[in-house]
Amino acid sequence: MAARDIAAEILARTDIVGLISNYVTLHRAGANMVGLCPFHSERTPSFTVFPGSNSFYCFGCGAGGDAITFVRRMENLDFPDALEQLAKRAGIRIPQEPQLYQGKKYDRNRFFAMNREAARFFHQTLRDGEAESIAAMDYLVKKRGLSTATITHFGLGFAPPGYETFPAYMLDKGYTPDELTTAFLCGRSERSGRLYASFRNRVMFPIIDLSGNIIAFGGRVMDDSLPKYKNSSDTPVFRKSRNLFALNFARSACAEQLILCEGYMDVIALHAAGFTNAVATLGTSLTEEQARILTRYTKKVIIAYDMDEAGRRAADRAIRMFGDVGLEARFLRLDGAKDPDEYIKKYGADRFRQMLGESRSRFDYYYENVLTKYDLHSPQEKVRALSEMCTLIASFPSPAEREVYITEIARRFDVKADSLRSEIGRLLRRRLTEANRQQVQKMHQAASGYNDRVNPDFARNPGVARAEENVLGMLLIREEHRKAAFSPPISLTEADFSTALGKKIFAFLKKCEEEGHGPDTPDAYFTTEEVGRITRMKVMRMQLTENGDAVFSECVRQLRRAVAEQSQETETPTLTDLTALVRRRKEEVDLPSEGDGKINE
Ligand code: CTP
Ligand code: MN
Repeated sequence: MAARDIAAEILARTDIVGLISNYVTLHRAGANMVGLCPFHSERTPSFTVFPGSNSFYCFGCGAGGDAITFVRRMENLDFPDALEQLAKRAGIRIPQEPQLYQGKKYDRNRFFAMNREAARFFHQTLRDGEAESIAAMDYLVKKRGLSTATITHFGLGFAPPGYETFPAYMLDKGYTPDELTTAFLCGRSERSGRLYASFRNRVMFPIIDLSGNIIAFGGRVMDDSLPKYKNSSDTPVFRKSRNLFALNFARSACAEQLILCEGYMDVIALHAAGFTNAVATLGTSLTEEQARILTRYTKKVIIAYDMDEAGRRAADRAIRMFGDVGLEARFLRLDGAKDPDEYIKKYGADRFRQMLGESRSRFDYYYENVLTKYDLHSPQEKVRALSEMCTLIASFPSPAEREVYITEIARRFDVKADSLRSEIGRLLRRRLTEANRQQVQKMHQAASGYNDRVNPDFARNPGVARAEENVLGMLLIREEHRKAAFSPPISLTEADFSTALGKKIFAFLKKCEEEGHGPDTPDAYFTTEEVGRITRMKVMRMQLTENGDAVFSECVRQLRRAVAEQSQETETPTLTDLTALVRRRKEEVDLPSEGDGKINE
């Protein structure tokens, strides 16, 4: 069986609604299902599942495709691995023929094995009794207070100072220079071309994913030299924006609440003290993806960032991000220590547990901030304090929650609740118009192709690009149009398409036609963003009832006319031409993208 047949079989046996329901709460809306998009933040659902065509599309962010695309995006997998996961789910065995993995550039399992081998090397080096290794062990045990049990549990290690021992060891195990550099374990000298170890003279922290695979490393110096940490860059098996340190250990202990720290050392100290529900980001600030991932494992996040100004700002950003993905979050305040690691060492686990219980909501956190910032005896400052609290309350999405805080603030500041309500109502209306304005602007940008990353050629001539999308949309949804398109009198060729994406999609359609099947597994050829765009073209056409032969011929005619006009325009335009052109572009932008009444009726 060819890869395509297997993919088709898997798609046929996968219930897309069931699959997506594992990640998104879906509600029925006519023949379709809708829910909050898992790929961007939104409060009203624009994510739509079409059971009839086994596809999904988000009208907000343009993500779309079939079950394979969904798994690729959701689980951050490439095409073959997404297939494998869906096959498992559908109970289909995929024969392990190498050409099945056509287009696959690397072997994930080999990367995992390679990282495991590297971790073993670092761990063994830490224990090998050499002078440098003893110094590293002393750093971890004496200076940082870790037990050998903790060191073993986290698989900590030591990367020796030399440039060559590590690459020699890994080459000897059969890994290629290309694999070692792609995994960020080694670099290659530009002058001599020799491999050298990326991590040198650092204590090593392996990063482990939820399946127990070692996917990356962080390495810390043992003195005050810089940079303090060196971390793996993204690799085929690692994206730092999607993983969290120690979530593999914490996942079974964090259902009720999870502690989010900044540093590896904080997490390790917390686990050692019995708080096995602690995790940390990987040297970057919290990403929306990470916040979203945490919603699958916990109900409540306690943010235990460093007590300095940078930590406070990062915590504030994180708590808002958790609010956006619908996760309850609280701030932890630790007096007398700079971070959780130091706090536990100074005051012990019991006191830390007590502090967890006293962690504050976003509301309380702001309230305390406002109290320290303003003198409430001064009328002007009281007004400012109230205005800040109103802005905060207006940012809570739930009316019930807002009402609770309004009553609370009215009591604490001794003002009328009604005046707060009207102030907050005003702020909410302003936010709404702002949101509307942004929505309209986004629609205009989409229609004009401004800032279009998937099809950067769109903006050069939106008229042509739209005509192109119309034709492609019809080709994608109807076999009879494909038949007509490839034979006279229409005989479309790649030259009829002027954007790079249009040409690529046309080439794909043509290839499918020649192989005698429909364009049913775009995921093998396109990026997920491109599949999203392809899905938009299909959805646009499907929403129009009229997609018959006459309409198709008319769309082709329009495309060819638009292309002809475009080539006239590009002949040395004068300044007046340009002004007219700019004016016309603006008019085009104001039209809805499906604005041609003649074809749509
Ligand atoms: N970090 C990084 N690169 C740096 C500094 C920090 O990637 N140059 C990341 C690391 O993931 C680190 C986290 O940011 O764990 C927090 O930084 P910091 O508080 O400086 O480090 P700690 O891990 O707390 O280390 P220590 O307590 O040993 O100072
Ligand atoms: Mn720290």
